[in-house]
Amino acid sequence: MTLPPSAATPLLELQGISKTFGSVQAVRDLSLSVEEGEFVTVVGPSGCGKSTLFNMVAGLDEPDPGGILRFKGRGCHAHELLGRVSFMPQRDLLLPWRNVVDNAILANEIEGANRAEARAKALRMLPEFGLTGFEKQYPHQLSGGMRQRVALMRTFLFERDLMLLDEPFGALDALTRTLMQRWLLDVWQRHRRTILFITHDVDEAIFLGDRVLVMSARPGHVKHARRVDLPRPRAAELVTSPEFTALKREILEAIEEESMKSFVASNGAVAA
Ligand SMILES: Nc1ncnc2c1ncn2[C@@H]1O[C@H](COP(=O)(O)OP(=O)(O)OP(=O)(O)O)[C@@H](O)[C@H]1O
Ligand SMILES: [Mg+2]
Repeated sequence: MTLPPSAATPLLELQGISKTFGSVQAVRDLSLSVEEGEFVTVVGPSGCGKSTLFNMVAGLDEPDPGGILRFKGRGCHAHELLGRVSFMPQRDLLLPWRNVVDNAILANEIEGANRAEARAKALRMLPEFGLTGFEKQYPHQLSGGMRQRVALMRTFLFERDLMLLDEPFGALDALTRTLMQRWLLDVWQRHRRTILFITHDVDEAIFLGDRVLVMSARPGHVKHARRVDLPRPRAAELVTSPEFTALKREILEAIEEESMKSFVASNGAVAA
């Protein structure tokens, strides 16, 4: 008889995961776990394997043999996770010929959901995503922030236990980005999904996360994991508090060390 996973079982666990593309080892011996309901942010130098990690967890890429991947306590192959997690890739991938609502329901439609029902649900969600009145607009008629919200809405509409967001606010200006962060926390607090979130912005990683994972230079693994014990709901002023600043210094130091390694690896010795 197999016992059901206990409440303490992490939603996602990776142990000793590696991924090689030809002569490039993108990820090596990466381990992490994510608890149900947690908001985990991931930072690390460019090219260290963050998106590769997400592609594996989304079931789009299989890791090299040897590592262990568990979802809800059960060991599985990456491809078995396809369709079990919702994934917002690094580029928003809105289809230019579909309007806002039809872009938002794309994943549900591919899954075979009833189109009218999915549309009705998307329409109900529009106000929460700040898109009221824009349901018939096409991507080229939207601002960058609105496009990101449509892509996020698509990820939320595809209701899965785990959401992967790969730099969802990467293309936004600083002010819009701050507003989107606060908005996302608000939506997250209401929907209570488990989120893994990649960002290059340390403030964003701390402001949003229950935990921040710092990845090493390529081949990537989790070099440093830091719990963020800052109260929720998080107010904008938090970012100037001494606790926030101390955390930021610690995480920046860990990233800078790794970014320097990756810079030296790709540029040879640093000129004096
Ligand atoms: N499909 C692929 N085929 C070959 N190489 C790949 C593939 N995907 C990723 N890589 C390589 O793996 C390494 C890690 O890439 P990845 O996109 O995961 O980095 P990243 O941490 O997401 O970077 P960024 O912060 O710039 O988005 C890079 O050297 C990249 O060239
Ligand atoms: Mg990436």
